[in-house]
Amino acid sequence: MNNQERANQTLNEFDIQSFQEDLIQWFKKEQRILPWRENQDPYRVWVSEIMLQQTRVDTVIPYFNHFMDKFPTPESLAEADEQEVLKAWEGLGYYSRARNLQTAVREVVEEYGGVVPSDPGELGSLKGVGPYTKGAILSIAYDTPEPAVDGNVMRVLSRILNVDDDIAKPKTRKLFEELVRGVISDKDPSSFNQGMMELGAMICTPKSPSCMLCPVQEYCRAFDKGIETTLPVKSSKKKQKKIPYKLILIENEKGEVLIEQRPGDGLLASLWQYPMIPMKDLGPESAKVWFLDEYGLDIEWKEKLEEVKHVFSHLIWEMEVVRVTLKGGELNRERARFVEKQTIDDYPFPVSHQKAHKYVNP
Ligand code: ADE
Repeated sequence: MNNQERANQTLNEFDIQSFQEDLIQWFKKEQRILPWRENQDPYRVWVSEIMLQQTRVDTVIPYFNHFMDKFPTPESLAEADEQEVLKAWEGLGYYSRARNLQTAVREVVEEYGGVVPSDPGELGSLKGVGPYTKGAILSIAYDTPEPAVDGNVMRVLSRILNVDDDIAKPKTRKLFEELVRGVISDKDPSSFNQGMMELGAMICTPKSPSCMLCPVQEYCRAFDKGIETTLPVKSSKKKQKKIPYKLILIENEKGEVLIEQRPGDGLLASLWQYPMIPMKDLGPESAKVWFLDEYGLDIEWKEKLEEVKHVFSHLIWEMEVVRVTLKGGELNRERARFVEKQTIDDYPFPVSHQKAHKYVNP
């Protein structure tokens, strides 16, 4: 059975129209006042939806406001320096979102005269605009009945329709998109999709959903059976690999501190950091040899300051922040430089390395 047939079968005897009405009425009355809900500007909707991926609303709000002050239009973001965009994103994490957003906005300015495309094909081919973001922009900004399915929407709908497919599997999202196509309101797709998101955020939460306050409780098959907390089914991802590092704080004779820019692709691309020695397979003595090889600098251990652990989606950095003394040598590493301490704040640093700032500017 394909997804469309599954969706049709699942929606058999489901009162679609009343469900839509109750959800939309609740959303219109109870929705939170959020800065990206001030209007339907597709650029604002786009930026907000990118920021909201993997990031909580409370965290996003100040970043969104600052970003819109700094880059109020697609043109202003297209023209900006990448480093300036990363600086505005500093602390939000998943920095490729910012880089892809700028790449895509540049395409919108160059190819579409600065107007975010309302054509699903054009919109979906922009860098970083996947099925979720595409559906969110089309429905919220352009009032088009397209599904916008993220983890929250899958949680809500898995409960309402009692769907026990594993939401960690990519193909399950496609089933939920078919289900949303089956239930979405053609009259007000914006309020429908945002209502699903709002329900997931405010009522139908992961651990203890507030079913007694739910505006669509009467439609919820999981509530009816008392199995709401057993859904959605989500297989656990394999656990993150731990990687040990030493984070190196080193000054030259002028009192400048050594930092370097990360490569232009991969994890934390183009952000700045203190040098890191990968300690897997290295002891303290061979770590000094490694540093001399890689940076051209001869160092001596001085003091261990702190242990910093940083969890990424797929790996964990276990970093020992150490102060070292410069004994000699000549810096010969591309992308690395000694900078004045007061200028450190001008560079975008990942949160894990910001924890070492206090030892530089005490
Ligand atoms: N999460 C994802 N998109 C959202 C939105 N537009 N409003 C609130 N929370 C969201």
